[in-house]
Amino acid sequence: MKLAEFKNIGLDEIEIISLKLAEFVKPGFTIGLIGDLGAGKTCLVSDLCKKIKITSGISSPTFTLLNQYETAETHLLINHFDMYRISTFEDLESIGYYDCINDINSFNIIEWADKILKYLPKENLVLIKITYSIDLEKRDYVFYS
Ligand SMILES: Nc1ncnc2c1ncn2[C@@H]1O[C@H](COP(=O)(O)OP(=O)(O)OP(=O)(O)O)[C@@H](O)[C@H]1O
Ligand SMILES: [Mg+2]
Repeated sequence: MKLAEFKNIGLDEIEIISLKLAEFVKPGFTIGLIGDLGAGKTCLVSDLCKKIKITSGISSPTFTLLNQYETAETHLLINHFDMYRISTFEDLESIGYYDCINDINSFNIIEWADKILKYLPKENLVLIKITYSIDLEKRDYVFYS
């Protein structure tokens, strides 16, 4: 089900999206980001992390596949995945994916969630599709439950 849609959002306006996204940052919740190379997945995670007060620097887990952060005030653990190179159940097990999504105390955000659609949680999940706007300098964001 479509929850929200934002069109023609420039990088200077990205907090419109990250503030909406921040509403879903709670223990046991998962956000999946879907968008091509360079769509803006990591930029969105990065801005979100500023809003929810992550103290450590955030970076794309392209090589590590999983980065973990903690919110300064509430000590919520954030599991940040990049599934670009992941496709099998065994791959997911080896990076600790199931431990993370079964941990009711942490929050998960997954880049390239479309690579693992059938392994995503069935509940407490929101998907965000990011596409280029007609103005290629901007992006469209659609939130789905
Ligand atoms: N809303 C936006 N409007 C305009 N440019 C944007 C927006 N969001 C991100 N960008 C730009 O898109 C580029 C790629 O962003 P980013 O690295 O976040 O993409 P990505 O989806 O994580 O890509 P990859 O899958 O390759 O890791 C950056 O140069 C960034 O400036
Ligand atoms: Mg990225």
